[in-house]
Amino acid sequence: MSENKPIALEAYELLAESFDRLAPSKAENAYIEQPAMRKAVGEVRGLKIFEAGCGPGILAEYLIHEGAKVVGYDVSPKMIELAKKRNQKNAMFFVADGAIPLPLDTSHNGQFDMVVASLAIDYIKDWSIPLAEFHRLLKPKGKFIFTIQHPLGSWNWYKPECAFGVQYVEATWKGFNQEPVVMPDYYRSFEEVINPLINAGFKIKKIEDLKPIDALRTLDPFKFGKFSKLASFMCVIVEKE
Ligand SMILES: C[S@@+](CC[C@H](N)C(=O)[O-])C[C@H]1O[C@@H](n2cnc3c(N)ncnc32)[C@H](O)[C@@H]1O
Repeated sequence: MSENKPIALEAYELLAESFDRLAPSKAENAYIEQPAMRKAVGEVRGLKIFEAGCGPGILAEYLIHEGAKVVGYDVSPKMIELAKKRNQKNAMFFVADGAIPLPLDTSHNGQFDMVVASLAIDYIKDWSIPLAEFHRLLKPKGKFIFTIQHPLGSWNWYKPECAFGVQYVEATWKGFNQEPVVMPDYYRSFEEVINPLINAGFKIKKIEDLKPIDALRTLDPFKFGKFSKLASFMCVIVEKE
């Protein structure tokens, strides 16, 4: 672990079981983020995929079902336990803090066709280390595909004092647990999303402001309306140059 404790570790240890249970059907995940990520990864049969901040292995389950092999890590031991339970074949999971170099030696360099991260790297202030790690693990032309909080949605939700740079923020989550949980996070401006990717040697292929899929319209008209007006998440696809 890093000298500085990962900001979201405690909160995700508290939320792991309810996240595992609810994220497969929760509006923000199941009707916005997960469909976007599944579309962005495309055909994955035969691919070796590395997943950062894998949580309870929901994306991994999809990727494995579609014919990929997955290696994933998360800072939360409880999340890793759940990811292992959910995915018993064609997967390997380990506990690690993504803010510091990963416990993967140089024999792993260039071994992965794709790196993915769903709503996970938001919790790391300085992206230079994780991005350098993903870059070294990817094959040439390999893609890093990730979702994060959209800077505008994040600005609106967290109301940080300043819209520039990377700002520590907190919010009380009531949707996952019976008891509300205070979730620390980082707000990042657009340049703090894009420039670290360029500096790490990635070429930007696509950025998408995520909207809910149509199925949410009847299921939850309020959230459908809300998230159709202001993007809560964005999906970014970059390629190792
Ligand atoms: C919103 S959850 C997303 C989980 C999963 N990717 C999904 O979409 O179902 C964020 C995840 O990031 C993990 N995380 C937060 N900080 C991390 C860090 N420094 N290193 C690795 N994982 C981290 C949390 O433990 C949690 O599992």
